[in-house]
Amino acid sequence: MTNRWQIPDLGIGMGLRSPHTAHILTNQPSVDWFEALSENYMDTGGRPAYTLDRVAERYPVVLHGVSLSIGGTDPLDRDYLRKLKALARRVNARWVSDHLCWTGVSGRNTHDLLPLPYNEETLRHTAERVRQVSDFLGMPLVVENPSSYVEFASSTMTEWDFITRLAEEADCGLLCDVNNIYVSSFNHSFDPAAYVDAMPVDRIVQVHLAGHTNHGTHIIDTHSDYVIDEVWKLYARLCERTGNVATMIEWDADIPDFETVHAEARKAEKYRGAAAKVAYA
Ligand SMILES: [Fe+2]
Repeated sequence: MTNRWQIPDLGIGMGLRSPHTAHILTNQPSVDWFEALSENYMDTGGRPAYTLDRVAERYPVVLHGVSLSIGGTDPLDRDYLRKLKALARRVNARWVSDHLCWTGVSGRNTHDLLPLPYNEETLRHTAERVRQVSDFLGMPLVVENPSSYVEFASSTMTEWDFITRLAEEADCGLLCDVNNIYVSSFNHSFDPAAYVDAMPVDRIVQVHLAGHTNHGTHIIDTHSDYVIDEVWKLYARLCERTGNVATMIEWDADIPDFETVHAEARKAEKYRGAAAKVAYA
């Protein structure tokens, strides 16, 4: 099956990370697409802008942000949104994603992806803001499930129920981070397979995979290692329902060389559904 907007499967991509950019520009490796971190390119010209523009000439690009604060209570930052929209147009971003979280209050950005209480009030508030952002961008915002380390006593529903209802009420896309599901399931003692099985797959346009650090009592989402087998199994379980969907590995700390990250990402090929990849013109 495919998503409801017929947004195509881009294949297996990679995050655009500075240790790899020289290799990418010089060798133009065979990668299906790249994900660029929005904020790294919004207030800068020079080398970063040059690099992203060259990459966007050669590869499909999607944008992934960390500062939208879609669940926050500060008004949406119109200046940020204008810059985000301009960047999306410049690089012909296939879609734009950010996290289900809040990042600060009273104009202060904590630079953390902070969890939300999952209840009716937060749902109404967040859905309204997602709709506003999608309207402004002229495309459905793609919202990613977070990893978390605390839960709220004021939550009245599971995260997967909240995300399902948010997607419906805001008519948005979803970025399913399978590693985040695993990390949160370990930290909060729920069944990750139940979460995967509950995801509204017709709204999933992208998947994240990543490695993490297991401290025994809790897992920290460090993006610093290979993907563990349990996460690959959850990914395979998701793919049975989504068919092929654009997939990449997030590797943001202790980043190995380009070929190592790319080889890890290509492992997804064996788990992806039988549906033929749709070439994106
Ligand atoms: Fe992610």
